[in-house]
Amino acid sequence: MRLYRRLLVFLRPHRARLAGNIVCNVIGAALDGVAFTLLIPFLNLLFNNDDGLKVGKSWLIDLLHALVGQLIVPGDRMASLRGISIVIVAMVIVKNVFLWMGGQLGASLQERITRDLRDTVFRHMQRLPLAWFSRTKAGQIMARILTDTEQAKAILAEVATRTIQNLAQVLVTIVILVTMSWKLALISLVVVPLIAILLQPLLRRLRQGHRRLRNEYGEITSVLQEVISGVRLVKSFRGEYYEDDRFTTASGGYTRGMVRITRISLLSGPITEVLGTVVAVIVLVIGAGQVDQQILDAGTLMAFMVLVMRLLPPLKQIFQAPTVAQQSLAAAERLFQILDEPTEEQLDKGTRTASALENTIEFDRVSFSYGDGKVLTDITFSARRGDVIALVGASGAGKSTLVDLIPRFIEPTEGLIALDGVDTREITLASLRALTGIVSQDTVLFNDTVRANIAYGSTDRYTQAQVEAAARAANAHAFIVELPLGYETVLGERGTRLSGGQRQRIAIARALLVDPPILILDEATSALDTESERLVQEAIDRLLAGRTVFVIAHRLSTITHATQILVLDRGRVIERGTHAALLGLGGAYARLHGLQSGESPA
Ligand SMILES: Nc1ncnc2c1ncn2[C@@H]1O[C@H](COP(=O)(O)OP(=O)(O)O)[C@@H](O)[C@H]1O
Ligand SMILES: [Mg+2]
Repeated sequence: MRLYRRLLVFLRPHRARLAGNIVCNVIGAALDGVAFTLLIPFLNLLFNNDDGLKVGKSWLIDLLHALVGQLIVPGDRMASLRGISIVIVAMVIVKNVFLWMGGQLGASLQERITRDLRDTVFRHMQRLPLAWFSRTKAGQIMARILTDTEQAKAILAEVATRTIQNLAQVLVTIVILVTMSWKLALISLVVVPLIAILLQPLLRRLRQGHRRLRNEYGEITSVLQEVISGVRLVKSFRGEYYEDDRFTTASGGYTRGMVRITRISLLSGPITEVLGTVVAVIVLVIGAGQVDQQILDAGTLMAFMVLVMRLLPPLKQIFQAPTVAQQSLAAAERLFQILDEPTEEQLDKGTRTASALENTIEFDRVSFSYGDGKVLTDITFSARRGDVIALVGASGAGKSTLVDLIPRFIEPTEGLIALDGVDTREITLASLRALTGIVSQDTVLFNDTVRANIAYGSTDRYTQAQVEAAARAANAHAFIVELPLGYETVLGERGTRLSGGQRQRIAIARALLVDPPILILDEATSALDTESERLVQEAIDRLLAGRTVFVIAHRLSTITHATQILVLDRGRVIERGTHAALLGLGGAYARLHGLQSGESPA
């Protein structure tokens, strides 16, 4: 119920459409019901040569009399029948026009709500803390945002269109049935609660089934996602067979789940149908008795039967609606789970805005853990404005984790990081992040133009001249103008591919353009060949000028000028000092340096 209410929030902005949909459906249902009661005079004329429209019998008969009384030509049965037929056809046409309009309103309603839901979840997801992304599989996230919104739509489809249409039809038909013969109507309606009760256990099992199915689907997308993004790894380790197995297992699990669910949901149709037929037969038998005793005329009984039969499909759908709803509710539940995760902004306790780095960034006894075991232990150091702090250490030592703490992608488990003496947790995330720029090893290019990639996120803020100046300083201008469309060339997955060095220079141009006072370089040159490296290094040197920089580098030759080098080992600083001082110390750094200069005599 709570879920329904939360979904209704998404319905609110579109209530005009919903109202239109309801009105059209009610009019359609009323026209439909009345069109079929025209069978009464039609059949009576045919069988008894008497139209059976004695005014005053019931409001229904009065209504019919008003509708077709004029058309009935005494003594000319065929002319009367033709007249009535034309009215029936006309009413059915008008009815369908209304149903079509209602259907359109309903469809656009559903699609708009789905769009709102999808957009809302995406906006929220983007603002969740980094930790959420590390613990949630990418495949699961994609499945949620794409398929769960589609499935949540199904419930809105049921509520917004089909159920409204069906309810309108059922209600109008019941009113007409009761006017025709309340006794027969009562008997036919006994079956309704019966069907509902019989279907309950089925519905419960369906809901459970759908919940399991969603996880099984997530498994498939996870394997897919991992294989696609790690295709080089799979190929080089000849992991195809291993991945085949994983995929087959996930895929088989999903199939079994689907079959399990179908088996259950297929039961509800036959059950409804058998019960419906039983009721129809009972009505026919009792009704025949009443016609025999002249309580009821034959035309009314036949019209009654037709209407009861027409009642079955909408009733069946109404009772199946919860089945579809189960699936959708499970999807909606998962979407709301994402929406219930607090965003960074909601978690942000910072109230002060920082507009510049005046003096220092200090790490004060900082420790950090991703959950089990410390990844960083007791890190203390201070960087003055304009310093270059280099972090060195084996992979897994905690270098990336350390720099992630600066823009507060993650927060220290113990200790604090202070910017000009203010704990960064007291500074608003937005202003803190505006101060920091990052260039990392795996440069992400978005599927957009070179210009939009450089001016990422704020294309309007920078002029073409500014973008070009940044690209020049990043040694990127020369290759950009050689691209087919220059700065308007589309990059990314579906666009022009760039080499590692070119990508890196785009990333540097990006950072130069934003001009952040604090800069983080996480292995920015690790994956480059020597020629690119020279160009990239030149670009980086320009980028460093006048900034406070944290640089992580594999090749020690690139950090010899650092103000301070921190050597990390399993999350602890084991040595610190300038290049010369550390070499003189003859410890870990000196050993590392010896290894590298021995390896590549440059
Ligand atoms: N999101 C994460 N969740 C859990 N553990 C992580 C996460 N990121 C990194 N780690 C672990 O933290 C340690 C330090 O990683 P990292 O900071 O990336 O090291 P480095 O950059 O020095 O190679 C490693 O043991 C790594 O497995
Ligand atoms: Mg790293």
